[in-house]
Amino acid sequence: MMNDNADLYIGREQTLVKHFILSKYLERFAHIVGTFADAITYVDCFSGPWNVRSPELKDSSFALALAELRKARQTLAGIGRDVRLRCLFLERDRNAHAKLKDFADHVDDIEVETQNLDLEAAIPDILDFVGRGGNRSFSFVFIDPTGWKGFAMSAIAPLLRLQPGEVLINFMTGHIRRFIQSPDQPTQDSFIDLFGSADFRTHLVGLKEQDREDAVVEAYAENVKRVGDFRYVCNAIVLHPEIDRTHFHLIYATRNPKGVDVFKDVEKQAMAMMEILRADAQRRHRERKTRQRELFGSDVTHRSTRYATLRKRYLNKAKESVEGALAAKSGLLYDEAWERVVSVPLVWESDLKEWIRDWQTDGCLQIQGMQPRQRVPHRGKENYLQWLI
Ligand SMILES: C[S@@+](CC[C@H](N)C(=O)[O-])C[C@H]1O[C@@H](n2cnc3c(N)ncnc32)[C@H](O)[C@@H]1O
Repeated sequence: MMNDNADLYIGREQTLVKHFILSKYLERFAHIVGTFADAITYVDCFSGPWNVRSPELKDSSFALALAELRKARQTLAGIGRDVRLRCLFLERDRNAHAKLKDFADHVDDIEVETQNLDLEAAIPDILDFVGRGGNRSFSFVFIDPTGWKGFAMSAIAPLLRLQPGEVLINFMTGHIRRFIQSPDQPTQDSFIDLFGSADFRTHLVGLKEQDREDAVVEAYAENVKRVGDFRYVCNAIVLHPEIDRTHFHLIYATRNPKGVDVFKDVEKQAMAMMEILRADAQRRHRERKTRQRELFGSDVTHRSTRYATLRKRYLNKAKESVEGALAAKSGLLYDEAWERVVSVPLVWESDLKEWIRDWQTDGCLQIQGMQPRQRVPHRGKENYLQWLI
């Protein structure tokens, strides 16, 4: 699928990673949701087309979403499920919207509406569209801006609160990090709009570099969780292709642990792909500078210290969080340990299981509530982790 179109993304590999996460997540999401919901309502709030290279707009988020939804509908039809697909695509720019509308007008197998509106002005229309899907429709809202303006927390709150529903937000960390402490009053006000209050500032006091970046993302994710009354929020880091810096974070919010499993799985696949793409992008960059082709492939020469440093950082962070909770309680529900781990990027349930194995081997942890033949703890089974020291 998308990897066949990798040429369309040369020089903007971060977009390929974003599209990979969106497509892969939607593929699994639609297959799962379609087994119990009668309709899927997909809303792309910042649709584009934007910087697309394919004449058929194959490298646009809306074309990719339609393709995944269609595929899922076909599979579901095979098990007797007739899922109604409904999409609303919003785009503020008049020219971009004209292309979007032309594309949508040629779709005859899915209900597609487009709006040439600013997101914040379109909230009532979006709610109306979602409402017309009936109460057996599941919604998915994608917010993919170019900066941090135009999706104030107070404006998007009704979209975050849609139930059943999930959201995926592109948080433009790179830009935000650069301007978040600007003394300029309008800039400060725009950040208060983004976060929904000025409280985020207190979390940033005294922090620098990566600590500050993490605090910014966590504060935003926490607000999305609170405002939308979500149970879980995860984020995937997308790095610059050529430089060792964060480009953006994809923040995903859900009320369902199954959604988290799928998102984390997709994150894992995306991170592996991202490192291959970055290796190639960095090799091309070096070759441009030296005007010499390198003898070895980028798979041999690439050592992303950035990725490795971040992975180590977040492993430590998640492990300390679980250890802290274990020390504070006489029994920590496995589900809670899992929840702490999956909210951290670049850390997966497999890491938690590995720590648990090591702690057991070292004789410092026991698990209560396991069934006779059960070897590893599971969620939803009242399995408690207990520190023995
Ligand atoms: C990053 S691009 C979207 C890319 C697209 N989601 C994709 O992945 O193919 C952001 C788009 O949102 C549009 N836009 C910017 N501000 C907007 C707003 N306030 N409301 C609606 N659309 C907006 C821009 O014109 C641009 O086409």
